[in-house]
Amino acid sequence: MSRILLTGGAGYIGSHTAVALTERGHEVFLLDNFSNAPRDVPDRLRRLTGHDFPVIEADVRDTATVSTALAGLNIEAVIHFAALKAVGESETDPLKYYDSNIIGTIRLLEAMQAQKIRRLVFSSSATVYGQPDSSPILEDAPTRVQNIYGRTKLVMEDLCSDLARTGILSAVVSLRYFNPVGAHPSAMIGETPTGVPNNLMPYMTQVATGQRPFLNVFGNDYDTPDGTGVRDYIHVMDLAHAHALAVEHILAKDVSLTVNLGTGKGISVLEMINAFESATGCQIPLNFSPRRPGDVASYYANPGLAEQIFGWKAVLDVNAMCRDAWRWEAKRAGIDDV
Ligand code: NAD
Ligand code: WQD
Repeated sequence: MSRILLTGGAGYIGSHTAVALTERGHEVFLLDNFSNAPRDVPDRLRRLTGHDFPVIEADVRDTATVSTALAGLNIEAVIHFAALKAVGESETDPLKYYDSNIIGTIRLLEAMQAQKIRRLVFSSSATVYGQPDSSPILEDAPTRVQNIYGRTKLVMEDLCSDLARTGILSAVVSLRYFNPVGAHPSAMIGETPTGVPNNLMPYMTQVATGQRPFLNVFGNDYDTPDGTGVRDYIHVMDLAHAHALAVEHILAKDVSLTVNLGTGKGISVLEMINAFESATGCQIPLNFSPRRPGDVASYYANPGLAEQIFGWKAVLDVNAMCRDAWRWEAKRAGIDDV
């Protein structure tokens, strides 16, 4: 059993990882400023798991507060989720993203150094690959960031690996997620986007609840089998499990790595809509619209390294992704037929 701190632990992926770690016997501490998470997440986690989750309410940029809060907790590893993640907003407000994501990581690393915490798992993103030459994508593919958000993720990866190279951290594992979707099957935790969702799955679930009239399909003239964009969607429960294995690996081996987390399967927008309709019985009205600026046609992971190193493989299929995303959104909307 290890004592693990999750920055951004009240957020979408952090909260599911908190459950996965607790189920494997670890003691989990959450650090969050609740800028993008409901305040009742720690209580939901407690009801879901029967365990308490100590909460440090702080901003990762506040080194002094974070360092003081960590003193004496004997944290053995940090998983750093806390960041801003809206691609569009990063292009209209770059300094906000540099500050939150890059300065935030530097300040967190300072607090970790002060408290002699030397193991880090970092939330990176497949967005660092930009437009790949081909898929499936291996970890040594060129990085071609196409927006400020992606730039911050690449800089954050580099900062963390520099600290491992210079011995300030003993090891860092950067996990490059593809497209996380779904929710815990209990529908007690999930994704809570504020305002109009940017991503396909939360937008589609809000069409299904009647909160939005139709789903825009951004482009049907891509060079893909049905003309719509292809992505590697991964169930958040599989992703959470991978974090538990990654942190256990770093604790046991102290080896630095960069690892893709995806299923290895590309799914088009139209395939995703069909899967959602059959998994839920909901009808999704569509509107074919122009391509969304900055979108790439197709990308999906080669997840072989995660299997080789962590013994991890995604097991939940697109039906489970759609079913669980729908259960969560329907419950939030007060629909109780799920
Ligand atoms: P999220 O917004 O749900 O979670 C992030 C959490 O961090 C939130 O609870 C927020 O309140 C907190 N936070 C933000 N800034 C903070 C700060 N300065 N100090 C303290 N807490 C702060 O996002 P998520 O989807 O769970 O993403 C988690 C991580 O995974 C992020 O780093 C994101 O860039 C990365 N990622 C997400 C996706 C995705 O599609 N969801 C894909 C690839 C990578
Ligand atoms: C998926 C597909 C759209 C919405 C984003 C970030 C990436 C990472 C994951 C954090 C595309 C299409 C979408 C809609 C649609 N996040 N679509 N109608 O853009 O692959 O990745 O989330 O690291 O950085 O960019 O995900 O869910 O927005 O789009 O047709 O209303 O669905 O064009 O083909 P994306 P997405």
